[in-house]
Amino acid sequence: MFSHRVIPALALLITTALASPTVDNSLGTNLNVSQLVSIAPKSSSCASDPFPSECRTAAQAIGPITASFVTYGVNTPGEQAAILSTMAFESDDFQYQINHFPGTPGQGTRNMQMPAYNLMYAQSIPALAPYLEKVQTSDAAAILGLLIRYTNYDFGSAAWFLTSQCDESVRSGLQSGSGAGFSAYMACIGTTETSDRGAYYQRAVTALGVTTS
Ligand SMILES: *[C@@H]1O[C@H](CO)[C@@H](O)[C@H](O)[C@H]1NC(C)=O
Repeated sequence: MFSHRVIPALALLITTALASPTVDNSLGTNLNVSQLVSIAPKSSSCASDPFPSECRTAAQAIGPITASFVTYGVNTPGEQAAILSTMAFESDDFQYQINHFPGTPGQGTRNMQMPAYNLMYAQSIPALAPYLEKVQTSDAAAILGLLIRYTNYDFGSAAWFLTSQCDESVRSGLQSGSGAGFSAYMACIGTTETSDRGAYYQRAVTALGVTTS
């Protein structure tokens, strides 16, 4: 039963939710659209996107991203900052789901996973099993098609990758907010730290208030 002290708090929550689409949940994921735009500046609008069907604004992306943090149990600001920076960098601020440059067949999702990982990721999603049965596992474009047709999955692959393909030490390194932690994460995702990636990560660290421990 609501006490008289809870009701004003609820009213405030509802007002706040209407004013800005904040997605909150009980697992410590509390990301808002302003934070997302500060990390991925172009995501304030899709108006000038050359591939409009692939583009998502921050307001559209926040729900699926938050859901992925819940699904994969990514609750720390340090890990969330790293995942957000990778998705924003790889999809050019959520403009792309598919690799267009150079256009590697089957490469895509918001973190632009390579086809072999997209297959593993798709196979890990129980709801996709009936659809996967109908495509060849060698058909990379069809596998990617499944992941991007059902919008939310393309925003989940970065969290899936960190939690299933990286060592626990990579996760604890990111949790600590250290530069070495970010470097180890770059190595795990098969790339190296560039100034562009670093700039995305620094914006995410600032937006999420990651502290170094
Ligand atoms: C978004 O979250 C940040 C960090 O918690 C906070 O400073 C900011 O006021 C929030 N913005 C909105 C519009 O809710």
